[in-house]
Amino acid sequence: MPDPFDCRSGLAPLPEVLLDRLRQADEVLVLTGAGVSAESGIATFREALTGLWARFDPAQLATAEAFQEDPARVWSWYEWRRAQVLRAEPNAAHRALADWADRQGRLRLVTQNVDDLHERAGSRDVIHLHGSLHEPRCFDCANPLAAPPPVGAEAQLLAPPTCPLCGGLARPGVVWFGESLPEAALATAWALAERCNLCLVVGTSGLVQPAASLPVVARQQGATVIRIDPQPAADFQADWQLLGAAGLILPALLERL
Ligand code: APR
Repeated sequence: MPDPFDCRSGLAPLPEVLLDRLRQADEVLVLTGAGVSAESGIATFREALTGLWARFDPAQLATAEAFQEDPARVWSWYEWRRAQVLRAEPNAAHRALADWADRQGRLRLVTQNVDDLHERAGSRDVIHLHGSLHEPRCFDCANPLAAPPPVGAEAQLLAPPTCPLCGGLARPGVVWFGESLPEAALATAWALAERCNLCLVVGTSGLVQPAASLPVVARQQGATVIRIDPQPAADFQADWQLLGAAGLILPALLERL
C-alpha cells in the first residue's frame, strides 16, 4: 500500500490511476462511521461522552444491561444525542455521497451511524448496520414507538416513555454491544462487499465487527479499497489512504470524476 496521501490542508495531487479507479468503478460500496458526521458537529462515538456521561465508557451505556440497571441514564444519553442530531445539518461529506450516488448510479451506502444525516442529505436506501436513534421501540415487546419531542441542548435525566401495549419501557432503536445486527441489513452489506469493485471507507476507526470486515471481504475479492480519515491506520488493509476530513476530500474527489 502506498504511503497515505496527506490531504489535511487540501486535496493532495492524486495519481491518475487512483482517479481512474474512481471513474471506472461501476459497483461502489461506501462504508461510513461517526467521522462522516463530525463536521456536522456530532461527536464521534468515542467522543460522545461529556458532561453527565463523561465518567462512563460508551460500552457502559450502549448495552441492554446498562439500560436495565439505569433506564433513565441510558435513555437520556441517547435522547441527548438524538436532539443533537436534530439540531445538526448534513455536511459536505453527506452531500457529496448523495450526489455521487445520483451521478454514478450503482453506489450503495452502508453506515454504522445511527443518525439520519445521510438521508437528510439525499442518500436513499441507506443501510443502517447499527440501527437508528429515530426508531425507539419497547424494550419488552419490541413494539415500535413514536420518538418523543426532542430534549434541549442541556443534558438532563428523564425516564423513558412506556409502551401503550405492554407497559414496558421505551429503548433506543440502536444495536447495543452484545446484540445482533439487523439480519437483512447485514446480509445486504455482505453481498455488496462480495460484488463491489470499489469500496470507500469513510470516518470509521474500524474497531467494531462485523462492519470492520466489510472492506476486508471487498479487498479479498479484488475491489479497490480507499480509506478517508484524518488519522492514518497502520493495520488497515487499503489500497489507498487519504488523510483528511471527509467534508474536504469527498467533494474534491467528486469534482474530479
Ligand atoms: N472526516 C473523516 N473521518 C473523521 C473525521 C472527519 N472530519 N473526524 C474524525 N474522523 C474519524 C476518526 O479519526 C475515527 O477514525 O472518524 C473515526 C470515528 O471513529 P469512532 O468514534 O470509533 O466511530 P465509529 O468507527 O463509527 O464506531 C463504530 O462503534 O461503538 C460502536 O456503534 C458504535 O457505530 C459505532 C461503531
